[in-house]
Amino acid sequence: MSSHHDVIILGAGAAGLYAAIFAGRRGRRVLVIDHADKPGKKILISGGGRCNFTNLGVEPKRFLSANPHFPISALKRHGQHEFIALVDRHGIPWHEKKLGQLFCDRSAQDILDMLLAECADAGVGLRLSCAVRDLAREEGGGFALETSHGRFTADALILATGGLSIPKMGATGFALEVAARFGLPVVEPRPALVPFTFAPSDLDKTRDLTGIALDGTVACDGAAFREALLLTHRGLSGPSILQVSSYWRPGRDIQVDLWPDGNAAADLKALKRERPRAELRTVLAERLPRRFAERLFETDVLGEALISRPLADMKDKDLERVASLLHRWTVRPAGTEGYRTAEVMAGGVDTAALSSKTMEAKSVPGLHVVGEAVDVTGWLGGYNFQWAWSSGYAAGMAA
Ligand code: FDA
Repeated sequence: MSSHHDVIILGAGAAGLYAAIFAGRRGRRVLVIDHADKPGKKILISGGGRCNFTNLGVEPKRFLSANPHFPISALKRHGQHEFIALVDRHGIPWHEKKLGQLFCDRSAQDILDMLLAECADAGVGLRLSCAVRDLAREEGGGFALETSHGRFTADALILATGGLSIPKMGATGFALEVAARFGLPVVEPRPALVPFTFAPSDLDKTRDLTGIALDGTVACDGAAFREALLLTHRGLSGPSILQVSSYWRPGRDIQVDLWPDGNAAADLKALKRERPRAELRTVLAERLPRRFAERLFETDVLGEALISRPLADMKDKDLERVASLLHRWTVRPAGTEGYRTAEVMAGGVDTAALSSKTMEAKSVPGLHVVGEAVDVTGWLGGYNFQWAWSSGYAAGMAA
């Protein structure tokens, strides 16, 4: 005996639940299957428990993909304003924290409750703790699934099982396995929005600086982000670091502008005129944590002698060397902390294989792929949930 549905959705996370709402509202008989014992676990831990559910500044250029045009259609059709309207209809209080990032006032549970209420309202069925053992296309169309709860068949299948980040939370490479089985190409997955690690020799120089926060602009591969960065006992973290990590590739450097609000050479020369007796370390400590500034110049271009010299005793040429290091502190990460702490997986099912309007695989009619499983990765700040909502909507309206 098998149970038939119009649409089966694999994954009761953000994208799967959202797709279910819209397929259900269209009158489709929908079943959502998840191997976890609870739905939406990542939603609950997101945004420090308050879920940064979208961003006022959502626009396609804030998403990474081998095809940067791919997300345009889905984001345009159902973007941040449509999601905010739903949140408002449910009376969920929210606030903008910074940089357009919208968070729940109370808890991420509000977002999950909203999704589950909408699913119930749309008649969506939910099977939890249900392991998929086999998955195949049926002759004449449709899909058959062998699961720990028995056999299910469906006309359409929406793959919403997310990416590889945080395996402890139940993340799996299932979407990539299914893609391989159906011959869909995959853009090589990699951890993104993830802290950097240093080589042991670099860590020896920075270990005692652990916990120091800096303000700067961090750049890599043409992308630049101005936000805090943080020295950790493994390397570097903080919002600006997480952002550039999505653009970084092994072996590349990142550049940090530690004097982001001005021209350091001009500023230091002006200070030399105004306060000739002030030591370099004193004026640097007014802009940077003192221990960090001393370490930077102890181990790099200048040597300790200069840092304790009064500005009046320094040549303009030396001030320019100090300035160029301040504007372009170059760091070569040894690696990242990997999927253990990465907020998302970049890469995934190649968008070349999918319709940007329906998320349906061009070569497998009826199979749709949504959310993090797709090679579309947003910036930090609510962009990844917005991709889950937008891609989920696109598939839910079509499947
Ligand atoms: P998601 O991972 O949400 O859901 C996948 C579902 O599939 C899960 O329920 C899983 O159990 C299920 N599944 C996996 N394998 C399966 C299998 N083999 N069989 C059946 N089911 C299976 N983003 C953002 O925009 N704002 C934020 O505040 C945050 N905060 C944040 C914090 C932390 C700690 C992390 C790790 C991530 C974030 N993110 C975020 C990213 C965001 O959580 C992520 O982009 C979305 O959850 C992706 O939604 P999906 O539905 O694609 O996958």
